[in-house]
Amino acid sequence: MLPLRHLRIGFWGLLVFLTFGVVLEALHGFKIGLYLDVENEPRRLAWRLAHAHGTLLSLLHVVFGLLLGSRYAPPAAAAARASRLLVAATLLLPGGFLLGGLFLHGGDPGLGILLVPLGALTLFAAVFVIARGLPAGAPAKVTLRELAFASPEYEDSWQLRLRVLREPLGLRPGPHERDEESGLVHLGAFEGERLVATLMLHDVGGGRVRMRQVAVAFERQRSGVGTKLVRFSEEVARRRGFREMVLHARETAVPFYERLGYQTYGEPFVEVTIPHIAMRMTL
Ligand SMILES: CC(C)(COP(=O)(O)OP(=O)(O)OC[C@H]1O[C@@H](n2cnc3c(N)ncnc32)[C@H](O)[C@@H]1OP(=O)(O)O)[C@@H](O)C(=O)NCCC(=O)NCCS
Repeated sequence: MLPLRHLRIGFWGLLVFLTFGVVLEALHGFKIGLYLDVENEPRRLAWRLAHAHGTLLSLLHVVFGLLLGSRYAPPAAAAARASRLLVAATLLLPGGFLLGGLFLHGGDPGLGILLVPLGALTLFAAVFVIARGLPAGAPAKVTLRELAFASPEYEDSWQLRLRVLREPLGLRPGPHERDEESGLVHLGAFEGERLVATLMLHDVGGGRVRMRQVAVAFERQRSGVGTKLVRFSEEVARRRGFREMVLHARETAVPFYERLGYQTYGEPFVEVTIPHIAMRMTL
């Protein structure tokens, strides 16, 4: 999951590079020749720069992680590209300074320093991809469409469902869950290119279709997106000849479905560790 991945890299990176800063202070404090002697000046400079760049890049990961979780996130393809570039820059820039300071050649830093310009270019590219991917104005209007299984949009749907439905319960999907989804209909609601809500339709036989894993991005909940997507799914189901929509509603979501005309039936039961109840509506 991309936003969490960058938040993790960011905070662990901060821990590493702030600790490195303390180590440098200690080398200074204890007047270690390896660090303070005049001939080791390039090492002092390079390692300070490794500390500074590592810390700043870690902060950039935190900011990028927060951006990816917000409504201003760049489209999935740009986000994935920027993510790879940012990770590469985080290895190359501080890594280059670190290596350059580790092995000195006379009064010059070691060959490792050659990684630095490469890292700088990678960082520029990452920042450019992020800047270009930001939305031009207010969030675009919601569009609804079917998603092809295993497409980048499907990957976004998988991540959104993980984030909204599973992670808050401390659950991970089972190993075969993805394969099982290949035969289902996947629908998405988009603001511009950003997926903000998703659900799946599962043919359960007898003219009935089951709506599964309805998830709206946290920051877009209670803004009407869920209603639009469910209505769209009913239209899709009707077009495919289904006569009844059924679903397992979380207890907390029952008022949402009732408002849309669904009715509960049968006894409540526990699914994914929380109370659910079956609901249905004639299409
Ligand atoms: C439940 C969910 C799908 C609803 O989608 P949504 O886009 O937030 O809902 P909408 O904005 O279209 O809501 C329309 C109305 O439904 C009702 N409603 C929606 N969510 C509700 C909730 N959690 N509790 C009570 N009523 C709710 C409200 O009457 C709401 O109108 P209001 O905001 O003017 O009061 C969405 O909030 C979500 O993804 N929640 C977390 C995951 C989840 O529970 N999924 C359902 C699994 S069965």
